[in-house]
Amino acid sequence: MGLIMGMHGVQVVAVTGGKGGVGKTNVAVNLSVSLAQMGRRTLLLDADLGLANVDILLGISPKETLVDVIDGKCALRDVMCNGPSGLKVIPASSGTQKMVQLPSSAHAGLIHGFSELNDELDVLVIDTAAGISDTVVSFVRAAQETIIVACNEPTSITDAYALIKLLNSEHGLFQFRLVANMVRSSQDAKDLYTKLCNVTDRFLDIGIQLVGAIPYDEHIRKAVMRRKALTELYPQSPAAIAFKALAQKVDSWPLASSPRGHLEFFIERLVGATMI
Ligand SMILES: Nc1ncnc2c1ncn2[C@@H]1O[C@H](COP(=O)(O)OP(=O)(O)OP(=O)(O)O)[C@@H](O)[C@H]1O
Ligand SMILES: [Mg+2]
Repeated sequence: MGLIMGMHGVQVVAVTGGKGGVGKTNVAVNLSVSLAQMGRRTLLLDADLGLANVDILLGISPKETLVDVIDGKCALRDVMCNGPSGLKVIPASSGTQKMVQLPSSAHAGLIHGFSELNDELDVLVIDTAAGISDTVVSFVRAAQETIIVACNEPTSITDAYALIKLLNSEHGLFQFRLVANMVRSSQDAKDLYTKLCNVTDRFLDIGIQLVGAIPYDEHIRKAVMRRKALTELYPQSPAAIAFKALAQKVDSWPLASSPRGHLEFFIERLVGATMI
């Protein structure tokens, strides 16, 4: 991770996908834990403000959440929890379904909070909600890298396409990374990739790269039941091995060679974007 204009760069990766239940949260959690296990200073931000799940998957019971920071009730650092292998987590709370305009008082607090963390982090992973709401789009467009999680089924492919189309046509994003989840074989992942590219190539001028294939693996459900990260509980399981490979890939992505690589700018883009 390089230095940018004398500032320490942080890789900001949003995990999204359009359709619900395709495995976004499991990908975000296990990618984050794998990066932490590699020694990368990683922060996982739960940006699913409606149905927060990161804390549940990691067995964390937060007292305060991102929503309290947004409401100006506490500082970002106060809501940071410890996950496995040194991972830091900023949990969200369930039930904040409504979109709220970020009060400008929250802007300063968030910008200050994230800029304070900048030198302590290498990677920020963001788990987003299902769908294509303003909240999801705000977080994704503020990040540097977009991971689209999809399964090889028509509804997931259609929803992933709708999300990519929106991010491209309305927000100018043109590079996407695909993680094929719940695949039965490596061919299954390639089929999904081909099907998605068939539609994007016809209608959009964007690039998609297949960066991971996570097998369908019952260990994931077992880990969820025990509220522990798969990569911690079953490190030798097929899915855990695939998550480690994904983490190595993410770690090899170059940092944006501009101030985009600075967390402060991430949050400025976020609060400047629209609303969360
Ligand atoms: N590779 C996999 N193999 C087996 N089960 C999986 C796999 N990935 C995810 N699951 C299961 O699928 C379900 C949904 O996963 P997850 O909560 O990560 O999806 P999501 O996309 O975050 O959902 P939401 O849209 O509700 O936020 C969970 O029960 C999880 O255990
Ligand atoms: Mg989720």
